[in-house]
Amino acid sequence: MEHVTTPPWAMLAYLISGVLFILALRGLSSPSTSRAGNRYGMIGMTIAVLTTLVTHFPITGISYEGPSTAIEHGFQAVPDFGAFGLILAAIALGGGIGWVTARKIAMTDMPQLVAAFHSLVGLAAVLVGWAAYLNPQAFGIVEVVNDVTTALAQTGPEGTALPMQIHPQSLIEMSLGIAIGAITFSGSVIAFLKLAGKMSGAPIMLPARHAINIVLLLAIAFFIFGFFMSQSMVDIALITALSFIIGFLLIIPIGGADMPVVVSMLNSYSGWAAAAMGFTLHNTAMIITGALVGSSGAILSYIMCKAMNRSFVSVIAGGFGAAAESGGGAAKEQRPWKRGSAEDAAFLLKEAENVIIIPGYGMAVAQAQHVLREMADTLKKEGVNVKYAIHPVAGRMPGHMNVLLAEANVPYDEVFELEDINGEFAQADVAFIIGANDVVNPAAKTDKSSPIYGMPVFDVDKAKTVMFIKRSMSGVGYSGVDNDVFYMDQTMMLLADAKKMVEEIVKSLQH
Ligand code: TAP
Repeated sequence: MEHVTTPPWAMLAYLISGVLFILALRGLSSPSTSRAGNRYGMIGMTIAVLTTLVTHFPITGISYEGPSTAIEHGFQAVPDFGAFGLILAAIALGGGIGWVTARKIAMTDMPQLVAAFHSLVGLAAVLVGWAAYLNPQAFGIVEVVNDVTTALAQTGPEGTALPMQIHPQSLIEMSLGIAIGAITFSGSVIAFLKLAGKMSGAPIMLPARHAINIVLLLAIAFFIFGFFMSQSMVDIALITALSFIIGFLLIIPIGGADMPVVVSMLNSYSGWAAAAMGFTLHNTAMIITGALVGSSGAILSYIMCKAMNRSFVSVIAGGFGAAAESGGGAAKEQRPWKRGSAEDAAFLLKEAENVIIIPGYGMAVAQAQHVLREMADTLKKEGVNVKYAIHPVAGRMPGHMNVLLAEANVPYDEVFELEDINGEFAQADVAFIIGANDVVNPAAKTDKSSPIYGMPVFDVDKAKTVMFIKRSMSGVGYSGVDNDVFYMDQTMMLLADAKKMVEEIVKSLQH
């Protein structure tokens, strides 16, 4: 049996990178520490990659340099600088693509970018799994049958090669890693296409889809067992193909609107695939990182489902978002509402003592965060007390609003979470809603038939005046339902693109 030993210094380096990844996650939990968190992650990954490169320097073969028969005493590894060059070129190419993409990507396109990156993690797990299967010696996962009698029995008298077997444990890790990786890959590709608008976000509901999925999952489990028993290429090929198919089938019935939860769930899967591969490759850093990504993705999916008042099972079962995709304001009633102008808004804002700003998805679409901060600065100069209220699922991804406000240099101490600020609306003179909709919809509190019933929302109806920026009365939020706030006595609808409207308000404030 061949043992792969990792030198103690490398174990220590992997441990340090694991600690840095934990610090990265910790840092990313708050906007004020997120930059440091990102840096920790980058340093951790650099240490992990360098350690792996040094401890796994590619070799072309073993040369004999002494009389001893043991590899350590006389045999020397011959380094393969060509292969090493290829690895460096691949790192430079991948890093370069990541660098350029990260610089160019618009904040609103972030969810699809994350989905696209996850698909690559899944594909990498599949490729590493196949590489380990096709060249198990290189991965140190073989058992050599040393016993001559057994060897002869297995290869026959004319047998030329020493019979080798992949460790049974590695077979399981490898097949699970390939299966989860393939599901992550095809699922993430569909998530990317839906989020990027390259395919319809509407759920595609196949008849008997649950039955088909269960049969496919059972078939994958069956072939994993078969692979464990036989090491056969047919089994591993079938596992790969069926997993690609089920990844596709699992994601097509999920509406574009639920995609962020799915992206986070696929993120979790990609982590587990990496952890499974880490066991196969005896790489501690990969096991730690995979487990961190797997568990944090699962926790995030859970938090998002909770904040949207959706059960995880119902998201996975799919179908939600059909009404939101096609309904497009069908629920609208003809009720009286008041329209205001930028000048009206500026006048009331100047007079106010306390203003609470509630940003939502529309602010992200309009990229109104910078001019919004300018408006808040101007109001603060006038002695107005300005706070920002962030709902946990405002926008389309976790922390969406926090990121945008941080980008516009809004001071962190002016930004409050739902539970910390919701009690203050009763003292607010103005609730300034900019591109938010569902997160202020009182139907979530009162209407049991509403798709958002049970979701915690801001109590904007308690504010003296509500200003509601959106482009038209017919536009709906993510859930596609009408909003009573539009028709309240104290509501002033400011119908325009959010950025244009706030620019107008700033102009009026400064005159
Ligand atoms: P939404 O309810 O989606 O409402 C967005 C509003 O922005 C709409 O009223 C829209 O009306 C307006 N809008 C769009 N573009 C605009 C522009 N250029 N200028 C001005 N207004 C514009 O937003 P929300 O309140 O942020 O709620 C988020 C929703 O997404 C929740 O239902 C949540 O459950 C869901 N969701 C969130 C997440 C995460 S993790 N954040 C994940 C999945 C789902 P017009 O079209 O009339 O302009």
